[in-house]
Amino acid sequence: MAQTARPVEPSGAAARRQASLPTVTPGDPVRTPSGHVVPVVGRTEGSPARVVVLASGAGSNLAALLDAQADPAYGARVVAVVTDKPGAGALDHARAAGVACAVVEPSDFASREDWDRALAETVAVFHADYVVSAGFMRILGRSFLTSFGGRTLNTHPALLPAFPGAHGVRDALAHGVRITGCTVHLIDEGVDTGPIVAQAAVAVEDGDDESTLHERIKAVERALLVEWVGKIARGGLSVEGRRVVVGTPEV
Ligand code: GRF
Repeated sequence: MAQTARPVEPSGAAARRQASLPTVTPGDPVRTPSGHVVPVVGRTEGSPARVVVLASGAGSNLAALLDAQADPAYGARVVAVVTDKPGAGALDHARAAGVACAVVEPSDFASREDWDRALAETVAVFHADYVVSAGFMRILGRSFLTSFGGRTLNTHPALLPAFPGAHGVRDALAHGVRITGCTVHLIDEGVDTGPIVAQAAVAVEDGDDESTLHERIKAVERALLVEWVGKIARGGLSVEGRRVVVGTPEV
């Protein structure tokens, strides 16, 4: 089924003016502390898309997105970082940038389903237009996909569909490939199986180990993620079968 997101085209002074305005989600009334219900009719035209980043690790991808949003024309703004690990380095980047953080730890929940529901509810609190899983080392479940399927991106350090899973770099190296890389894709119910948005190649060098190769991939991965999150935030996306179309399709 085709899923579409509203195109957002911020530009120049208007975008800069509107970047500071609160962004709202259509149809989602806001209740003030005194109980007054304010109907919400739509997102401010030209305001940046609200992005929630999920991260478990060092957060260099998050840091790259935070850097990119310093340009008001970028079109996306990270409004929250949600982690499964209270010690994740990503939280330091978020705090330094003044971005809200939330920790949703699986060990706090009786089941994987309960954790998944809490994760979806937490992301929803921030009125996310898009979710970016950037080094989030958990499989997202049914509740999450019901709320955010079709607008959750993942970045993976291999050229999918080759080498999915938690050890994409190690597995590519062990296989002896000469070219690997990274993939930005939409999340579905499988492990790194969703429709592909963008890919970039990285050559394996003689003498590479997992760490040297991963560092070179991560440099390319950050640029790819920043480029495509911006494109999607500005132009929206639709999915036709396995093909992702970013921006308004030509008619
Ligand atoms: C990235 O290479 C991501 O693809 C992989 O883990 C790494 C996360 O890096 N799943 P960081 O936490 O963004 O620095």
